[in-house]
Amino acid sequence: MDTPTPRAVDPKQAQDPAQVGDASRHAAQQALAATFQTLQEIVIAARRTLSQSVWDMLSGGSDSEATLRRNRLALDSLALRQRVLVDVREIDLSASLLGRPMRMPVFIAPIGNYLQYADPQGAAAVARAAVARGVQCFVSTAARPGIEAVARSVDQPLVFQLYVRGDRSWVGDILDRAKASGYGALCVTVDRAYYSRRERDMINHHLVREGGGDGSHQASLTWDDVLWMKQRMGVPLILKGIATAEDAKLAVEHGVDVVYVSNHGGRQLDHGQASIEVLPEVAAAVDRRAEVLMDGGILRGTDVVKALALGADAVGIGKLHGWALAAAGEAGVARMLELIELEVRTVLGLMGLTSTAQLGPHCVRQATPVSQGSVTSAYPMYEAALRHGEARP
Ligand SMILES: Cc1cc2nc3c(=O)[nH]c(=O)nc-3n(C[C@H](O)[C@H](O)[C@H](O)COP(=O)(O)O)c2cc1C
Repeated sequence: MDTPTPRAVDPKQAQDPAQVGDASRHAAQQALAATFQTLQEIVIAARRTLSQSVWDMLSGGSDSEATLRRNRLALDSLALRQRVLVDVREIDLSASLLGRPMRMPVFIAPIGNYLQYADPQGAAAVARAAVARGVQCFVSTAARPGIEAVARSVDQPLVFQLYVRGDRSWVGDILDRAKASGYGALCVTVDRAYYSRRERDMINHHLVREGGGDGSHQASLTWDDVLWMKQRMGVPLILKGIATAEDAKLAVEHGVDVVYVSNHGGRQLDHGQASIEVLPEVAAAVDRRAEVLMDGGILRGTDVVKALALGADAVGIGKLHGWALAAAGEAGVARMLELIELEVRTVLGLMGLTSTAQLGPHCVRQATPVSQGSVTSAYPMYEAALRHGEARP
């Protein structure tokens, strides 16, 4: 176990990072992050920091939010199978994505419009925390402060996530910029043919679209376009938003390098399947001919383990890194990743496994659901705090 025990600091004594200037904010955030012993505390802190409309923008889904809740309900309806009497003192979490080593099979999913509301350093703070914790970071077209500034903030290639907001000359231009900035892979998000109806944002009159620009170009995308993009940028291609075996098969046939199972965290097609539900059929269709990534509702080490068991090579964290950034900036994201790693290691040890490579479908079973699938169902103490009025609902 190489996770250091954090310094004990009374959260009430730590300075509120929002109340101090740029120079001392970082130190205040580090002191606050060191007080977090659990992921639940991070989410409680984020909820206290964010306004209702920004919380809703980050945490909400589309329409009735059925897909959003189903992501959690499906994860909460899987049980882990444990083996005992195995020497589990050493556990290997090492992983890789497109040949780049990662400390654990976890990565930061792209979040566009939002991060700058949580911290002035926005996506740059997230990228620095990810690189420091040895995981890959996807950077959205809509990231602030800009894709070049985020790339400059770290010393290794990140993944550029593309939304198509213009014609081929617009796309060529942004791909050239990403390439010149050193991005090492291209992730095209394909579950955004239309911008969904985010009803929380509509009711709050908080109407910021991920990606900006002219959305009709995104609606016209076909397989030819994504192949042209891959050739143009000359880096491996990741397709984000695959949700069926049929499309996974087509992706492999078109030479896609990574098939990324996602329903956009329940923010696009409502009444879609949970990501964890479609993962087995996608993994079977891909049949190891490409790497498989997955995101959607991942809030715990147990969630990561379930997704790895059902066929993901690595698992993406969306909302949770937004909450961690709001809670304590770059230090909050780093602490969140440290806690996720600690949870994954503990879960594997308790399952009698010494490596993530030993995970497979035999490690999970359908079981009685333990929640009704609320977006924060992984954090019962956070939900209890809300009920007792300790944070705004
Ligand atoms: C506030 C917010 C903004 C997002 N922006 C983008 C984006 O710019 N590009 C993209 O491909 N996905 C975007 N997503 C989707 C995430 O990449 C990811 O698929 C999703 O958050 C995973 O689900 P989770 O939030 O339950 O972890 C966004 C998600 C959130 C919550």
